[in-house]
Amino acid sequence: MFDAKELSRKAVEAKSKAVATYSNFHVGAALITNDGKIYQGANIENSSYGLTICAERTAVFTAVLEGERNFKAIAVAGDTEDFLPPCGACRQVLADLCGKDLEVILTNQKGEINTFKLGDLLPYSFGEDFLKS
Ligand code: THU
Repeated sequence: MFDAKELSRKAVEAKSKAVATYSNFHVGAALITNDGKIYQGANIENSSYGLTICAERTAVFTAVLEGERNFKAIAVAGDTEDFLPPCGACRQVLADLCGKDLEVILTNQKGEINTFKLGDLLPYSFGEDFLKS
């Protein structure tokens, strides 16, 4: 078990590390492994805008580089009134590396949370199985 509120607080904390030079839109993420280790991420923008990387992907790539492959949940936090959902590219990356059972915990500015299964946010998706046929 893990504490979803605590994970969302870790995402809010990570938001302070965002390098949002061009959009000024700061995003934080916190990814927890099945054995309870937490990896934080933040968006890092680039003057060649397309090279920007989202908070969710910095978190999962950092964790994978540390040897982690089993993930339970990711929390995402922005400075938005509404719950901030991961972009399409991040949904694809999370599905590949974390699986469709990953819990996605969204937060809003009031600190409220809303939880989804990644598979529900990315139905009928491309994945490694297609590469085997
Ligand atoms: N961004 C994220 O980090 N995660 C999301 O889920 C949505 C968008 C970042 C990318 C870019 O630096 C900024 O937010 C504006 O799009």
